Amino acid sequence: MAKFLSVVLATTSLLFRLHVLEVALSQNAVETSALTHTSIVLPSSSAVVSAVLSATSTNTPLTSIEPSSTLSLTSTITAAPPLTTTTSFNPSSGPFPPVGSFPRDYSPAGLAKLWDVVGPVEVPPITTTVIPQTPIVLPSPPPALYPSFFAVAPEDILPDLKFPEGFFFGVASAAYQVEGAVKDEGKGPSLWDWANRQPGVVVDNTTADVVDLHYYLYKEDVARIAALGVNSHSFSISWGRILPFGAADSPVNQEGIDHYADVIATHLQFNVTPVVTLFHWDPPLALSAYYGGFASPNIVDDYIHYAKTVFTAYNGSVHTWYTFNEPQVFCSELAGFPFNLTLPNGVNSSTAQFQCSYYLLKAHAGAVKAFREMRITGEIAFKSADYVGMPWRANNTEDALAVERHAAFGLGIFADPVYTTGDWPQILKDTLPPDYLPRFTEEESKEILGTADFFAIDAYRTYWNAAPPEGIDACVKDFSNPAWPACNLEVMFDLNGWASGPASDPLSPWLQATPQFLRTSFKEYHRRWPTSKIIFSEFGFTQPFEGTRTPAELFQITEDTERTNYYMTYLGELLLSIHEDGIPVEGAFAWAIMDNAEWNSGLSARFGIQYVNYSSPTLERTYKRSAFALSEFFRQHLQN
Ligand code: NOJ
Repeated sequence: MAKFLSVVLATTSLLFRLHVLEVALSQNAVETSALTHTSIVLPSSSAVVSAVLSATSTNTPLTSIEPSSTLSLTSTITAAPPLTTTTSFNPSSGPFPPVGSFPRDYSPAGLAKLWDVVGPVEVPPITTTVIPQTPIVLPSPPPALYPSFFAVAPEDILPDLKFPEGFFFGVASAAYQVEGAVKDEGKGPSLWDWANRQPGVVVDNTTADVVDLHYYLYKEDVARIAALGVNSHSFSISWGRILPFGAADSPVNQEGIDHYADVIATHLQFNVTPVVTLFHWDPPLALSAYYGGFASPNIVDDYIHYAKTVFTAYNGSVHTWYTFNEPQVFCSELAGFPFNLTLPNGVNSSTAQFQCSYYLLKAHAGAVKAFREMRITGEIAFKSADYVGMPWRANNTEDALAVERHAAFGLGIFADPVYTTGDWPQILKDTLPPDYLPRFTEEESKEILGTADFFAIDAYRTYWNAAPPEGIDACVKDFSNPAWPACNLEVMFDLNGWASGPASDPLSPWLQATPQFLRTSFKEYHRRWPTSKIIFSEFGFTQPFEGTRTPAELFQITEDTERTNYYMTYLGELLLSIHEDGIPVEGAFAWAIMDNAEWNSGLSARFGIQYVNYSSPTLERTYKRSAFALSEFFRQHLQN
């Protein structure tokens, strides 16, 4: 889990002001949580340690009142479902069974036992696939932001620069975060179905049991993005829907196979290219119960089997595949509560992240090998995350080293083995003993190197890096240092205390808008991990405090100016990156298609370009300004 450090920095004598500022410990800069806070002194000469930030919860109950004036903006659903019980549902589940003790019983009774580990699940208000009224007619767009010297209209941003032919203008989602219907049609529980019920894990105590109910509303969701001109959707398949027990020797769930076949067919019908991720952080709970999931070598064959099953089922209708979403974030998550309760014997919170990284890379490589041997048509990679930063203090050798450490522990840990060396970054090997970070044999290195056809990067932001106050060497030698093993700090403000960019919602403290660094970042990605094609696989922003607003404030929710500016400035810089810097970017995917379950921040941190009314049984979607801005931007900048 992310450890965010609150620092009161009494800056040098040049600046006699106190700033309350946040520094995220970079080796754990997990994008989804701000639950743990510690304090540090930085820099040691002049800083004063301050109070600790408290986690911000926006657990505001939503009302069911909707202003009638908003109706024309919202989606239409033809089925009339019964009223939801959302407000009275009380999520809770017991402790995780001792790892290895759970019997492998692949019968319906065995599945029920797995669900017992999760506890009661909320029944969705809709239980069949909804056929939407199509075509979707877009409501009238918002008026231009005023004046134009405050915000340039999307079509007037670098109007002569175009995206390359065939460019993916996409939105993104992930199964756990949007589907809901978690127990329907034979699905087995995922680890997050259990984790979100553990005390303190999700700030607003919400589950993803229902969330957007994309599982039944996907036809409308696809039609709605197609209406914007979106030409691709990056979504994930839930392993537990395909193989409820996860394991290679366990039965396939035909309903799951059929479901995604129709999801994919629907995309094709609307001319929206499906881009499919096999694993977006939702492992089958069974595999953790049987052997400890991704902290065990057993995961490798089970994952490869799952991948082959999916390739076989959808070969020909999906062209672009990802094996894993942001593996660095997923594996660091395993070290923290409650996932640390699911580790097998011999793996602990300190070693879990690196054991997981090792097995996950082997699983990735094995799946790509199968993909190639099976002659699946198309291309495959994994989605990287994080950034290559800049030294906080220019010309400071320690901070320059901190940048390298950040790049190695964040991106390099997966990108170096796959794209350039077949091995871990040297910095990792110099820091982590083999019982933490297993070393690759020569054969494993050969199997891993070259197992991606392109480079995909979720590039939400770029910051500075600094050495820890006690120095990098001292940190590297000290296992108990909170910055160990990455031993660098992520700094979101400059030397004078000014932020690198506008803040997003307090529930995503890791995120500030930093378009000014986008071109440098993409140059670095391309220089360090060269490929002939890059996909900007996710970017997005939480409009500050949006999650605290009620449906009655819909007209304020849809006016998401900061998110809109984030997208417009990033896309403008992306065009420059392509045209001025020659970076071969061939797609950009806005996170997210709609509001969704943002992991530890639940339903309160909202990333959607569409609002979802969670207090309504029909879960209406409403386009926000950002959706129109993206649509306009692409209309102007896609080749005809
Ligand atoms: C990247 C992750 O892939 C996604 O699941 C998450 O919701 C977004 N970042 C925003 O935090």
